[in-house]
Amino acid sequence: MLPKNRLILGIETSCDETSVAVVQEGRKVLSCEIASSIPLHQITQGVVPEVAAREQIKAILQVLEIALEKAKVLIQDIDLIAVTAGPGLIGSLIVGIATANMLSLATKIPVVGVPHIWGHIHANLLDQTEEIQFPALVLTVSGGHNDLYLWKKHGQFKLLGRTFDDAAGEAFDKCGRLLGLNYPAGKEVSDLALKGNKNAFKFPRAMRNSPDYNFSFSGLKTSFLYTIKKIENLDEKVKTDLAASLQEAVVESLFFKVQKALAEFEVKEIHLSGGVAANSRLREYFQSKIKDMKLRYPHKIVYCTDNAAMIASCAYFCDFKKEFVSPQLNKN
Ligand code: KG4
Ligand code: ZN
Repeated sequence: MLPKNRLILGIETSCDETSVAVVQEGRKVLSCEIASSIPLHQITQGVVPEVAAREQIKAILQVLEIALEKAKVLIQDIDLIAVTAGPGLIGSLIVGIATANMLSLATKIPVVGVPHIWGHIHANLLDQTEEIQFPALVLTVSGGHNDLYLWKKHGQFKLLGRTFDDAAGEAFDKCGRLLGLNYPAGKEVSDLALKGNKNAFKFPRAMRNSPDYNFSFSGLKTSFLYTIKKIENLDEKVKTDLAASLQEAVVESLFFKVQKALAEFEVKEIHLSGGVAANSRLREYFQSKIKDMKLRYPHKIVYCTDNAAMIASCAYFCDFKKEFVSPQLNKN
């Protein structure tokens, strides 16, 4: 039986977002504050780790203060501190981890480390009351990870497959850059794609028939680069067609492995999470293919991308050992 009314303070600083949240009973988000250094990374068209870490340091205390204030709680009201332990950028991770450990030392509130990707998976519980019917098949995809999990019950995950190289979000970001879009380009690519023809260009669906649940998106990036090099007049119409064709290749590649898993495992629900789960074509495509099963994705777009509420939720539902947290760069 999970503890009633438990208040968890979540801290997430794995990359370029500094986030602190207060979550009650793993679902009710009392506050979720997010500061982002993305505008700085747009200058360099990608994250510079040192810059991200420096901005984390600048933001963390203020974000913490605002999150407590908005939740209308004092630090003494918190039952547990949950912080992202990894994977992520080491300099960024350390800011959140050091903050969590120091808060714990000063207040005697226990602290636990949470795997970032398991955090993303719990985003589907935020602001939701309906119980998950296990087992669930979870496709979680962002700029840094691209995984397929079987979620057997709370705290129990089986990794079925992941990307051999790039994640789908990375393909959106780098191809978007070739289209002259800003980092991170996923949202802009999907906006462009709305006006484009998804069949205009034929991009590869890598590993479609491989006998496993793994993915690969580096070939798609290369194919996109060579296609664009051959285009003489890269006008707006061509850009929309490129965006739509790219998006379709990503969505179909992701769905193939989900379809394969559905044939092998008996699951009761399908979940999408991570930054790419914000993609409306992905949601629409999955919904059109999955008619007889519940499809979940995060209730709000901010719960798709990096946020601390999902970290607090994960700590509530998984029974992590309470300890001084150290960075876990390869953990899940
Ligand atoms: O989870 P997240 O905030 O950071 C990582 O852990 O990587 O995800 C960010 C990624 C970026 O690659 C971004 O382009 C992608 O999610 N993304 C999208 C959309 N919104 C964000 N990709 C496709 N369509 C979107 N609407
Ligand atoms: Zn993430």
